Amino acid sequence: MHILHVVGARPNFMKAAPVFRAFAQEIGVSQTLVHTGQHYEVNMSDVFFQELGVSEPDVNLRVGSGSHAQQTGEVMIRLEPIILERNPDWVFVYGDVNSTAAAAMVCSKLLVKVAHVEAGLRSFDRTMPEEINRLVTDQLANLLFTPSQDGNDNLLREGVAAERIRLVGNVMIDTLVRLLPKARGYTRPDLPERYALVTMHRPSNVDDPAFLKDLLDTLRELGRDLPMIFPVHPRTRQRLAALNQFEDTDNRLQLTHPLSYLEFLSLQTKATVVITDSGGVQEETTFLHVPCITVRENTERPVTTTLGTNVLVGRDMMRLREEVRNILEGRHSRGKIPPLWDGCAGPRIVQEMFHWQKADQELRFARAAGSDSRV
Ligand code: UD1
Repeated sequence: MHILHVVGARPNFMKAAPVFRAFAQEIGVSQTLVHTGQHYEVNMSDVFFQELGVSEPDVNLRVGSGSHAQQTGEVMIRLEPIILERNPDWVFVYGDVNSTAAAAMVCSKLLVKVAHVEAGLRSFDRTMPEEINRLVTDQLANLLFTPSQDGNDNLLREGVAAERIRLVGNVMIDTLVRLLPKARGYTRPDLPERYALVTMHRPSNVDDPAFLKDLLDTLRELGRDLPMIFPVHPRTRQRLAALNQFEDTDNRLQLTHPLSYLEFLSLQTKATVVITDSGGVQEETTFLHVPCITVRENTERPVTTTLGTNVLVGRDMMRLREEVRNILEGRHSRGKIPPLWDGCAGPRIVQEMFHWQKADQELRFARAAGSDSRV
């Protein structure tokens, strides 16, 4: 059996690694890794392959940046001949980035089976490009692997057949569990005893100069009591540069380049609080029992707020200040780890795929036998 994985952007790499590793244990499975090149800087891409222990991609489509239509279109145009040439039995796509939806569309039209890892998540906010990618990918995929029960509920409500859905847990946590001991060993001499770790890259936050300025002022103010460490995503770097804010860094608010997976995980484990608009970081902090404040009105990962340590503050800077104060004064919950976020989602995905494949073959034989007997 030939499995082809499509990855493109930073959060995809941590999700694909456990699935790739689990398939590598199986006899008779060959794998191809295609990187669309949506993320291309060394510290947004290459460093992850080195740290995650995944082989270098077999193919890099080098699509780079562009508008949504350009990026999605380029992935489709450049991926199609690769699928035709390599002829995989299954294509695995991950998460909700433009590369995910583009690959699902190409493969569905070529009648190649698609498996979506991290299916069913919904923010119910169609102004988010990722929500569109989720909706499209989940309608097209043959097999949908969900991280939590809400994913199954959403898919069933949207009319996805139950036999296509498998609740397997969170693959991102597989990578975290495997690399946590290594991350804990990572030290940084200048690290304050207490600090907040900040990430911010959503267009809804960083593409609005007035809000970005307000956020930065609030972080600087909070930084008087709790130093802020802010590794800056390239999109945010450009927006901060436009505001002449990127160079303006000090001990209260340290702006740094994007960090590697191990560096960032290490900082998360020791943080007093994480302030973010990322999806994956909401999950990782829940697993680590580290308080998380999410600067968004909604989340497609509701278990992180109902069970985990995550609190949504929207774009309300007063609420952000209040929540940081609560955390500094010890008024926060340690949260619980959601079911099946146990480091074994990758092997479960592989087993579930084999079961599905077997059941599908039996059904085809039964149908063929049924039609034979009618002849
Ligand atoms: C993408 C995903 C988002 C995910 C994020 C993780 C979509 C729609 N969005 O957002 O869901 O949370 O990745 O990081 O797919 N850039 C560089 N170097 C790079 C990559 C990007 O400079 O290696 C710059 C480019 O100017 C680009 C901008 O960052 O225009 C945004 O990159 P893009 O891939 O369009 O989306 P992200 O904001 O990274």
